[in-house]
Amino acid sequence: MTLQVLSVASEAVPLIKTGGLADVVGALPAALAPHDVEVTTLLPGYPSVLAALDEADAVHSWDRLLGEPARLLAGQLGDHPLLVLDAPAHFEREGDPYTAPSGSDWPDNWRRFCALGQAAAQIARGVGAAPGFDLVHAHDWQAATAPAYLRFASDAAERPVPSVLTVHNMSFQGWFDPAVFAATELPGEAWSLDGVEHHGGFCMLKAGLALADAVSTVSPTYAAEIRSAEFGMGFEGLIRARGDAVSGILNGIDVTSWNPADDAALVSPYDADHLSRRHDNKRALEAEFGLESGEGPLFVVISRLTWQKGMDVLLECLDHLVGNGGRLALLGSGDGAIEAGLHEAAARHPGRIGVRIGYDEALSHRMQGGGDAILVPSRFEPCGLTQLYGLAYGCVPVVARTGGLADTVIDANPAALAAGVATGIQHGPVHYDELCNALTRAASLYRQPETWQHMQRNGMVCDFSWTASGRAYADLYRSLVR
Ligand code: ADP
Ligand code: GLC
Repeated sequence: MTLQVLSVASEAVPLIKTGGLADVVGALPAALAPHDVEVTTLLPGYPSVLAALDEADAVHSWDRLLGEPARLLAGQLGDHPLLVLDAPAHFEREGDPYTAPSGSDWPDNWRRFCALGQAAAQIARGVGAAPGFDLVHAHDWQAATAPAYLRFASDAAERPVPSVLTVHNMSFQGWFDPAVFAATELPGEAWSLDGVEHHGGFCMLKAGLALADAVSTVSPTYAAEIRSAEFGMGFEGLIRARGDAVSGILNGIDVTSWNPADDAALVSPYDADHLSRRHDNKRALEAEFGLESGEGPLFVVISRLTWQKGMDVLLECLDHLVGNGGRLALLGSGDGAIEAGLHEAAARHPGRIGVRIGYDEALSHRMQGGGDAILVPSRFEPCGLTQLYGLAYGCVPVVARTGGLADTVIDANPAALAAGVATGIQHGPVHYDELCNALTRAASLYRQPETWQHMQRNGMVCDFSWTASGRAYADLYRSLVR
């Protein structure tokens, strides 16, 4: 029997994206389809999402959903079913889904995303003409109250609907003033150590961590790391207490949109047997970033410019990168001080460092297709997707040994090189010395073309498609549905 799963999230490609969460949520329906699981995605009705829905039918409406009128619209996410929560007072705001134009978080984010969680729980039980679902899959804090609304529904005992919470990033917790709890329409019993209360506050991620039937994270190593204080960020005790209910399932990548042999963004498409065709992409990329051609490697970075991503330490290492013969093309946005530091570094090293502040999907493809190596010096990384795109594109990943980076890159240590299996470079904790050392290793391996090309090919033939992880999610769902 086809399992009906409602996947609830605040982002999904191609409709709305601020990070990897959107790639994963957008890819899940196709990943699960071969396993007899139909995934329907529920998204908030942001302007960009509503604009993409033509002629959508309203399948349900609420006079008041956490205080505001709302409708449920049915549409398509590619070939798969989509539900959109059209609640203009909550979601019809321009710009980033989470922040006001001033850059600060919307103060009513708790209400907006509790509305999403509450709607998800009701939809899963069946509302209006829409049928119910066998299971709810909630992603991150924005959807993490869905398991709480399910658990505390008045008819939960007669018809329990199981739920899975996937934690894409433990550092985003949705933590609010306790005073908001009264307006969430959760019952008083939800305010407890085993519910939504966390150190005296209302914590939306905690709701899912405590009350979902299963919790997953996006790599096996991160699933182990969050049991420790360093990575658990206050939830290590709860994670340990949940025992076997917590697992790690590695993200896959969409191998249709990330295929260097068939990528319309590239000047010169190529595959593992025609690596020399990358040269044209590299020249085009150098021109695009105003970089000189040179003997050393062309490093690229495509990233949020934040502490998590180690961008402050990378900034300190840029003189070393250039001094070692390297060049850098960087695309990203985020922390103002890091952005300013990057502009200064580019001014100090004209023709060697090029910086583009902003978000540009097509440029990110051109960078993977023309760069020699991609730098991902994250302090923690639940999975990470850019190193996977790098592997698929022969843009050798140079990564910190943490989370999904540790799980997906095989370090070019002497044993791996001797066995011919290396796919990239890993370094230890994100400090100046470690990162400089990794940059030096990358530059020296790059000067050995045969070894370098071997690493490129090894990465390109790795299977990071959704095949294995789609099956793992399907198995997890089936283990929870009675
Ligand atoms: P995170 O979700 O923590 O930011 P991931 O590596 O999982 O990190 O996913 C980031 C996603 O966003 C990738 O698809 C990456 O290519 C994309 N991305 C990040 N910054 C930019 C940017 N400035 N322009 C285009 N794409 C970007
Ligand atoms: C988060 C994590 C990233 C992960 C992505 C998708 O944004 O920071 O590591 O790849 O979610 O799961």
